[in-house]
Amino acid sequence: MLHQRLAFACLAALAGFASAEGESDVHQLTQDTFGDFVKANDLVLAEFFAPWCGHCKALAPEYEEAATSLKEKDIKLAKVDCTEEADLCKEFGVEGYPTLKVFRGPENVSPYTGQRKAAAITSYMVKQSLPAVSLLTKETLEDFKTADNVVLVAYIAADDKASNETFTGIAEELRDTYLFGGVNDAEVAKAEGVEAPAIVLYKSFDEGKNIYKEKFDAEAIKAFAKTAATPLVGEVGPETYSGYMAAGIPLAYIFAETEEERTKLGSELRPIAEKFKGKINFATIDAKNFGAHAGNLNLKTDKFPSFAIQEIEKNQKFPFDQEAEITHDAIAKFVEDFSAGKIEPSIKSEPIPETQEGPVTVVVAKSYDDIVLDDTKDVLVEFYAPWCGHCKALAPKYEELASQYAGSEHKDKVVIAKVDATLNDVPDEIQGFPTIKLYPAGDKKSPVTYSGSRTVEDLIEFIAENGKYKASISPKEEMDEAAPAATEGSEEKKQEEKDEL
Ligand SMILES: *[C@@H]1O[C@H](CO)[C@@H](O)[C@H](O)[C@H]1NC(C)=O
Repeated sequence: MLHQRLAFACLAALAGFASAEGESDVHQLTQDTFGDFVKANDLVLAEFFAPWCGHCKALAPEYEEAATSLKEKDIKLAKVDCTEEADLCKEFGVEGYPTLKVFRGPENVSPYTGQRKAAAITSYMVKQSLPAVSLLTKETLEDFKTADNVVLVAYIAADDKASNETFTGIAEELRDTYLFGGVNDAEVAKAEGVEAPAIVLYKSFDEGKNIYKEKFDAEAIKAFAKTAATPLVGEVGPETYSGYMAAGIPLAYIFAETEEERTKLGSELRPIAEKFKGKINFATIDAKNFGAHAGNLNLKTDKFPSFAIQEIEKNQKFPFDQEAEITHDAIAKFVEDFSAGKIEPSIKSEPIPETQEGPVTVVVAKSYDDIVLDDTKDVLVEFYAPWCGHCKALAPKYEELASQYAGSEHKDKVVIAKVDATLNDVPDEIQGFPTIKLYPAGDKKSPVTYSGSRTVEDLIEFIAENGKYKASISPKEEMDEAAPAATEGSEEKKQEEKDEL
C-alpha cells in the first residue's frame, strides 16, 4: 500500500500534478491548522475524506469547482484526510466518507445536507451565507409562510434590539431546521392578529399556525417551536423513537403498512390526539418495516392495521382488539377507558401448567404472583430463553438443585422455579439469559440477583446466604466440574425490534 502511494506521487510529480495541487482553492487542513482556519473564516464547508473512498473521488472535481466559484464570496472550502488526521475526524464524529460539515466558527457546526454537485454546493453555501432571518414585508410575507413545512416569523418593533437579537440568535442556531423571517411593520403584525413582539409559527399541518406572545427568551422560544412543530399525530421511526420514550407519557401506536393508510388513520384519529394532547402521544408506525415491534406490544405481527397504547413508565401494554375495526369512535372509547384506568394491561402468558412435571417449578406470567411472590417461601427463579445455550447447559444442574431441595427438610420452604421470559411478561428487568434471582420470604421487594458460578454447590450456598430460612444442604460427594460465572456466561438478551427503531 505504502509503495503504491509513493509510486503514485512520483507519477503525479512527473505529470506536473504536484504544482496543480498547489493552486487548488480547497484548503487541505490538519489537526494543527484546522482550529485557526475555522476561527479566521466565518463560513467554512469542510469535507472529511479518505483517499481510497470512491464517493470522495467522485466529489473531488465538483468540490474544486464549487471552491473556485465561492472564493469571491469569501466562503471557504476545506478538506481533511481522515487517514492522516484520525483524531480530528473522530472529534467531529466522522463515521463515513465523505462527511461534509458547515462551520460557522469552531463551535457552530451543522451537517451539510445538500447534493454533492458543484452547483448545489455553491447554492447551498450561498444560502448559508445569507442572514438567518429574512426581513419580510406585507408583499413577501404570504409566500414566505408556505416556503417550508414550518416557518417562524417574528413581529418585532424596529427599535426593539433585544427581541431582534434573541430571535436572530435562535435563527442562526436552528437555520437548518426551520425557516426564519422577521417583520418590523406594525400594520402587518396587526393584520396577522398579533402585536409586537410576537412570533407566529406557520405550518403545513394540524392547526396551521401557533402564536408565541411571551417575553422573548431563547429557551422558551425554542421549546415553543419544538412543540408547535411536532405534528399532533407524528411518526415512530428510528429518529423519533427515543424522543417518544423520553417523553414519559403513554404512546399510542397506529400500525399500518402503507403511507396512504397511515395518513388516513392519522387524520381519522387526530381529534382524539388533540383531546389527549400532552397526556398521550399519538404516532403512526410503518408496519412493513417495523411490524415486529407490534409483538412487543402484545399485538399479532401479521395483522395490520392495528393499534396499541404503551404505558412507558411501567412498561405496560394495552393492545386494541385486532378483530375489531379501527374507527374513530372505537379508538376514542378505548383511549377514554385507558385514560380512566378501566383497561387491564395485557400480559403475555403461557397457560398455567395443570401439573408440575419435573422437580423445577414452572412459572408463567399468570402464576407469577402466586408462586414467586409467595411470602412464605424463598423462591429461586431462573429467567430463561429457549434459544439460550447457557440456559441449556444449566438445565441439568438446576434440576439437580431442585431435586436436592425437594428431597430435603426444606421442601416446603424453598422453591426452585423457572420462567420462559420470551413467552411471559414478567415485571423484572431482564438483561441477559439466564438471569437467576432469589425472592426471599418476607422480603419480596428485594430480590437478590445471582452472579456466582453455575454449580449446584454455589447455588445452594447462595440460597442459604440470602434466603430467609438459610436453607443449606450438605454437599454431596461427587464434585461438579467448574462452571463459568453467571456474569461471564450470560447471553445478551436478543435485540428486540424496539432497539432497532
Ligand atoms: C434586526 O436587526 C437587524 C440588524 O440591525 C436589522 O437589519 C433587521 O431589520 C432587524 N429585524 C427586524 C425584524 O426588525
